[in-house]
Formats: sequence, C-alpha cells, structure tokens
Amino acid sequence: MARLDKLPPYLFTAIDKAKRAVMASGRDVVDLGIGDPDRPTPARLVEAMTAALHEASNHRYPCNQGSALFRRRVAEFMARRHGVSVDPDTQVLALVGSKEGIAHLPLALLEEGERVVGPDLGYPVYSSSTLLAGGEYAAYGLGEAKGFLPDPAEVATLIDAQTRLLILNSPHNPSGAVIRADDFRSLLETARGGNCVVSNDAAYIEVPVGNDRPVSLLAVCDATLDRVIEFHSLSKTFNMTGWRIGFAVGHPDVIASLDRVKQNIDSGAFNAIQETAVVALGEDFEELVTGVLEVYAPRRVEIVAALAEAGIEVFPSAGAFYVWAKVPTGEGSLAFCARVLEEHALVVTPGLGFGTGGEGWFRISLTAPDERITEGARRLRRL
Ligand SMILES: Cc1ncc(COP(=O)(O)O)c(C=O)c1O
Repeated sequence: MARLDKLPPYLFTAIDKAKRAVMASGRDVVDLGIGDPDRPTPARLVEAMTAALHEASNHRYPCNQGSALFRRRVAEFMARRHGVSVDPDTQVLALVGSKEGIAHLPLALLEEGERVVGPDLGYPVYSSSTLLAGGEYAAYGLGEAKGFLPDPAEVATLIDAQTRLLILNSPHNPSGAVIRADDFRSLLETARGGNCVVSNDAAYIEVPVGNDRPVSLLAVCDATLDRVIEFHSLSKTFNMTGWRIGFAVGHPDVIASLDRVKQNIDSGAFNAIQETAVVALGEDFEELVTGVLEVYAPRRVEIVAALAEAGIEVFPSAGAFYVWAKVPTGEGSLAFCARVLEEHALVVTPGLGFGTGGEGWFRISLTAPDERITEGARRLRRL
C-alpha cells in the first residue's frame, strides 16, 4: 500500500467543509473548533519584524540550523525560563513551526518498518508522520481514569527492540493534561537501554491553566546523555500561528539527525522571523506573554459555567487553551458534534478526531473573540 494511502482522512478538513455548508445557508456560525488565537501578535513583535524586513541581509537564504543569535537566545531562554542547559551550537535547531520538526523527526530516526510509540488520543501528526516515514505507530492509551496521562507500565509493554521513538505531549492537546516531573522520569526510564529517542511536544508549555508552570522534559534529564528532544513553538505563546517559527532542543545527535533531514527538505526559517523571535524570547518575554494569555482565564470560566448549566462534565485541564468536555448523550463524538453544528450553528471538535481514545469527548477552543465566546456559551447552555 502506498504510504499516502495509509493516512486516515484529515478530520479537520471535513469539519471545515461542514461548517462552510452551514454558513452558506446564511446562519451565524460560532466557531470554537480550531486552536488558532484570535488576537494579533503583540505590537512590539510586529514592530521588530517590520524593522527586520527592511534589512536586506534578511532577504537571503537563512542558516538552516537557525542563526547564531537565535540559537543563543533560545539557550538563554531555556536556562532562564525552564532551568535547562543546552549548547546553542549543537543542541538547538530553528524550525518552520514546531509541526515541521515533529513531522520530520520519524524520517530522521526510522528504518522501514520500525516503530514509534505515541499517544492514541493525540495530535494527528504523530501517527501520520510515522506512516509517511514508513514506520509503524503503536499507540498507548490516554484515558480519563488516568487523568489523560501516559501510564509508564503500559508504555513499557509497547517499547521493543524495533522502537526508535517515544512521543510524549505535555501539556497535552486536546485534554490539557500535564506530565509531572516524576512521571517524565518514569517514562524516560522505560525508554533507556534501547535505541529509543524520547520526544516531548511542548507547543503549549507556556500556556498553563492557573499558576502551576508545566515542566520541561529536559529539566529532568541530561540532554547530553539521554537521547531526548523537545519541541517548542511561538505560535500559541505569541499569537503567531501564521508566522511559522519554533525550535527543537535536545541531544546533539538527535538534533543533528533532524537538521540533516531539514537540510534536504527546507532552507530554514525566514531570518526576519528569527530576529523577531529573538525579541520575543528576550527579557520582555514574561510581560509579552502575560498580555497574550490573560484573555483565556475569563473565557474558560464562562465556557465551563455554561457547560455546568447544561449538565456537561469537564476535565480539569492544567494546560493549553481548550476545554475538554464529555459528550452528554449516548451519541458518538462525531454524531454529537455534527448535531451541535446543525442545530445550534456551533463548531466544536469531536474527540475522535484525535484518535479512538477521544471517543466520548469533545474539545472547545478558547481562541475566539470574547463576544463569540459569550455567544458560544449561550448556545452551549441550550444543549
Ligand atoms: C499539540 C500540538 N503540537 C504542535 C502543534 C504545531 O504548532 P506550530 O507548528 O504552529 O508550532 C500544534 C498545533 O495546533 C499542536 O496542537
């Protein structure tokens, strides 16, 4: 079978099509589906970008690995913000958004038929990129009973001699579950001994719910000894999803392998965007991030209150900007979300879109303007 034919249909495309059909009928659709911040990138970063655009040297091919300044700033940021020490020359890689790095990693690590162990309830790119690289995806479950966290004992049963990559995602999309330091340690232990890289997708690490900051995988190990890699993104942190900038930090060999794939596929992240990222990750980081993220807490309160009124149970997420809620009827999540769209002109995402482990749940994104959140909450109350 051709690799492309092994991929399931991308559910989010189907949801978008259904949404457009309802909109075409003239109804006012409230879209709480996709996790794409509604607010603009902070003005200070737009100004930095504007200045960088006028710099002719930025118009040329970038350094594939990321500029020396970008990598140094990432290393300083990881030390200051996450207590993680990485060498900017060998342990940092610029990415064209974290999705790009996540998707290329299996290509860097796998031989045909080798295995990736990753979450079933998870970002669809983990399994699709494994299949595109000719690998086999073995899924560990993430159930409500375990707080949507990976169970190290179950993960251990899936890691065999052919396993080259264990994928973790903390904070987790869609549930918002956060892996604690001790669990990271146990999971690292399950992968030790073999030739298995441990990766954490930390795209939401700067988007906590409340004051408890999620821990970095690299904070609980030595990334010059353990074969680890962690993916970071500026997309959600700075309302920069369209800009395409992220970075990977990790073991020098793993970073070098990913870099080698990228050298053969892309030509690096636009220099002007890297320069803007240098500003974003600098001394004003905390102030910028507070301004970006402060909108989500009141939106969460409003949506959770509406769901409570509708008698719908919610998982107490610790990270990310989603509300993860239980389908209140006996319907499957696809049928439920299709009906909510049809009857209430409200887009929410079926859990099944994130794998079979998401059945029985649906996701509400808090990345819509306040007035749309209020209108969405009004419709949720009537479910
Ligand atoms: C869990 C997770 N990881 C990674 C990404 C990719 O983010 P980006 O490529 O914009 O950095 C997303 C985007 O929605 C995500 O939900």
